[in-house]
Amino acid sequence: MAMQRWALADVSHVLIDQQTLADRVRELGEAISRDYEGREIRAVAVLKGAVIFLADLSRYLSVPVSFDFMAITSYGHSTETSGVVRIIKDLDESIEDRHVLIVEDIVDTGLTLKYLLEILETRQPASLRVCTLLDKAGRRRAPVPIHYRGFSIPNEFVVGYGLDRAGLYRNVPYIFVVREDAADGEAARGGGR
Ligand code: IMP
Repeated sequence: MAMQRWALADVSHVLIDQQTLADRVRELGEAISRDYEGREIRAVAVLKGAVIFLADLSRYLSVPVSFDFMAITSYGHSTETSGVVRIIKDLDESIEDRHVLIVEDIVDTGLTLKYLLEILETRQPASLRVCTLLDKAGRRRAPVPIHYRGFSIPNEFVVGYGLDRAGLYRNVPYIFVVREDAADGEAARGGGR
């Protein structure tokens, strides 16, 4: 496949392969379906990184689910999360009295998620939980509740399966660490959401 040849040239090492991802996403979907039985989920994903995960996860949800999306950006220095986020695109619909499940690609320092939880909590959802595919717990600066966790990973910058570096690699179907010398002119600006 052309896409994989292109990506392979930039792989330092694969952290989570396609089959391992698929198995774990299925397990998460089944666990969430059990916990939410009899209820309807409003899945809230932060653009853009969580989109691939949400698409796969949602196909293993056996309870009714609707989607909504937010786009946010951090204030301050572009490569360090400041924890103060600005909403670029807000949710389309009210979450009042809804069972909200935040679907995240990765929780790193936790500062973004902490802020997001604070914002959404004020809107009085019936419940508010977090599902993240990846957890870099070693980097945590703000304690955040994680109810569903795909994988705990070491402190390495990873891409693929929704995660990007300078906008690239989101479509690669596995999670990998990029080679230091991979040529992408914009990499120095850091990843995007
Ligand atoms: P936090 O506020 O430090 O938890 O930042 C979380 C956000 O940083 C994620 O939603 C990603 O956009 C980005 N991020 C953190 N670590 C990585 C990584 O290893 N690869 C790609 N993006 C990352």
